[in-house]
Amino acid sequence: MKIAVGCDHGGFELKNAIKAHLEERGFEVSDFGIYENRPVDYPEIALKTANSVASGENDLGILVCGTGIGMSMAANKVNGIRAAACSDHYSAKYTRLHNNANILCLGGRVIGAGTALELADIFVDTEFEGGRHRKRIDLISEIEESQKK
Ligand code: RB5
Repeated sequence: MKIAVGCDHGGFELKNAIKAHLEERGFEVSDFGIYENRPVDYPEIALKTANSVASGENDLGILVCGTGIGMSMAANKVNGIRAAACSDHYSAKYTRLHNNANILCLGGRVIGAGTALELADIFVDTEFEGGRHRKRIDLISEIEESQKK
């Protein structure tokens, strides 16, 4: 499985920790920056990372900013992206099982590295349940389609 990661200055250390952890687990990780800790605008990183997931270049993505919220808002503007900002284990699990989320967004100023690595593991290890949830994901896609000009 190929995983894209990205962050702004609010999530720099955490992104690097997640990248190292996933690589240690044997995943192929594409890092969309930032590569040194400096102030950046999170939508730019979210866009690059989300595009790589939407195109199929990567299977899943993990984005980290201060809260995880700005990254999720920006990533969700990309067609085909279902990004979820999570701070707890239950949400990280069920956003895969039920929402088929393809990007996990974490807050580097909200949760510690221990929790973040566990949430990343849950996210990449859990598969979409399908079944009755498929129709709901299709309805989200229909909204997306209806918004295209
Ligand atoms: C940057 O200061 C901060 O606003 C950003 O990392 C993020 O939390 C936005 O949602």
